[in-house]
Amino acid sequence: MKRADINFTNEADASELDFEWEQFHETKNKVSYVKQHHVLGAYDSGELVGRLVFEILSGRAHIKDLIVKQTHRSKGIGTDLLRAFENFCKDEKCHKLTARTTQHHTALEMYEKFGYTQEFVQKKDAFGWDWIWFYKFI
Ligand SMILES: CC(C)(COP(=O)(O)OP(=O)(O)OC[C@H]1O[C@@H](n2cnc3c(N)ncnc32)[C@H](O)[C@@H]1OP(=O)(O)O)[C@@H](O)C(=O)NCCC(=O)NCCS
Repeated sequence: MKRADINFTNEADASELDFEWEQFHETKNKVSYVKQHHVLGAYDSGELVGRLVFEILSGRAHIKDLIVKQTHRSKGIGTDLLRAFENFCKDEKCHKLTARTTQHHTALEMYEKFGYTQEFVQKKDAFGWDWIWFYKFI
């Protein structure tokens, strides 16, 4: 007996099932399941010179991508993006912020400076590098 056709689909169509998670969490956690995806851009005279991409899921905000154009680094733009991200998350009543980076990136020192703590290390993950996960409760 055929049960279902399994095919690749797209996120917009697949989001129809978000409702199932909403119901699950309302029953189990008494917390609503709200998924948000945001992109903060840093502009210099109209030119995009940095971005911070993040997702919020049930009170946990995760930085997916943080980068500043090479020509514009070490001028405080990364700091401004991270600060804007944190302020937004506070307003959204998030309880935890997370990010991941490696020894090969320059963000490690920045996260520590901002009060993030190392939570765990994913060994030989993407690019074969060890990825350090950071968190901060707010
Ligand atoms: C990490 C990054 C976003 C920081 O942006 P930025 O605009 O240069 O950062 P800021 O000028 O606000 O500096 C913030 C802190 O970052 C660190 N930092 C900045 N430039 C650095 C460099 N060249 N080397 C090491 N650390 C550096 C410092 O700790 C700095 O704090 P300080 O100014 O008090 O010393 C930027 O360096 C970048 O795009 N790096 C490549 C991508 C990357 O590593 N992304 C992280 C996600 S994995």
